[in-house]
Amino acid sequence: MKRLKVMSIFGTRPEAIKMAPLVKRLEKEEEIESVVCVTAQHREMLDMVLQIFDIKPQYDLNLMKHGQTISDITVGVLKGLEGVLAEAKPDIVLVHGDTSTTFVGALAAFYQKIKIGHMEAGLRTDNIYSPYPEEMNRRLTTTLTNFHFAPTKGNYENLIKNGVSHDEIHIVGNTVIDALLQVVQDDYRFEEEILNQIDYKSKKVIAMTCHRRENWGKPMENIFRAVRGIVERNREVEVVFPVHMNPAIRKLAQEILGGVEGIHLLEPLEYMAFANLLNKVDIIVTDSGGIQEEAPALGKPIVVVRTETERPEAVDAGTVKVVGVEEEDIVREVEILLKDSAAYEAMANAVNPYGDGKTCDRIVDVLLNYHKNN
Ligand code: UD1
Ligand code: UDP
Repeated sequence: MKRLKVMSIFGTRPEAIKMAPLVKRLEKEEEIESVVCVTAQHREMLDMVLQIFDIKPQYDLNLMKHGQTISDITVGVLKGLEGVLAEAKPDIVLVHGDTSTTFVGALAAFYQKIKIGHMEAGLRTDNIYSPYPEEMNRRLTTTLTNFHFAPTKGNYENLIKNGVSHDEIHIVGNTVIDALLQVVQDDYRFEEEILNQIDYKSKKVIAMTCHRRENWGKPMENIFRAVRGIVERNREVEVVFPVHMNPAIRKLAQEILGGVEGIHLLEPLEYMAFANLLNKVDIIVTDSGGIQEEAPALGKPIVVVRTETERPEAVDAGTVKVVGVEEEDIVREVEILLKDSAAYEAMANAVNPYGDGKTCDRIVDVLLNYHKNN
């Protein structure tokens, strides 16, 4: 029997982290021929993930340009994938999440009538501009998709509301948990010596990340000023902030947080180091999507600096609080966690709404079942 040819397409750090365990799993399956195409919408941040999971893409569009716009990525991915898909002729293309690579990867596959599997399907906010452009990328990708791999029951229900047929949706969990379980170790030592030197027992350590487009400008300024104020008022607090490589974010971070005692601005950490940092700190302040899924599994309170979330599961479970992007709201909520141990303990529960680490197995089962019947 001819093997099923599955092409995984991804381009940014979070897609790579969440697709890596599936790529490794597909490579082991005899009935599947697994090929990887990276758009390299991100370069260094993508390569760090490829290296740690030992993935060598067969195709690399090498698209990243500094200061790229959403249109640059859209045009580059669409044109770049045209030839790759025509040459490789996969039976199924897999895309992940909500980036421009995700949506345009699905569109390019549709143009060649290739079946599409969408991992992390069915996440929704009520606002097409928040997160921007991700919320629209998700909706457009849903329209193009044949196999919807939904992490949770709530995601399934969102897809049903969008008119997706029940038998095209598979509730499988999120591969982020498969990845996380592979890398977190209690005796982990960091290559960055500063992270070994921090006294995690007597200090209150906050890990933070911030990068979303809808937070660029005033909201991000508010977030950074809030964190600076918290550190200046609470001497026991240390902040570790591996800064995203977007130049606009780096400039603002340096301006507001650079040189402040107790704030460590670092380069992006490789995934293993970052996951182990999450495991050691007390509180996480972030606007990231993926971190809202990882940190609950590690039992860490997460203060989300956004106005909404498409990941309500950990909010309902009590480990995530969405606090918005006003300086005084962020300061108040973080200081409650620093000073009120009952409030802290109430949020520091390990909950895991996103799966049991077997998401990749479930996705492979769906693909093999399709192969058997076609
Ligand atoms: C992208 C995704 C976003 C995702 C985020 C994860 C879109 C429109 N945005 O946003 O959904 O949450 O990735 O991090 O798809 N850069 C580097 N090296 C890198 C990566 C980025 O130098 O390895 C710099 C470049 O100057 C690049 C800029 O960051 O032009 C922005 O990258 P881009 O992918 O356009 O947007 P992100 O904000 O990273
Ligand atoms: N991450 C990482 N190094 C860092 C910061 C984050 O490996 O310095 C990981 C993090 O564990 C999560 C993912 O990157 O899995 C989140 O990516 P990002 O915040 O860039 O995007 P989002 O999740 O918001 O789409």
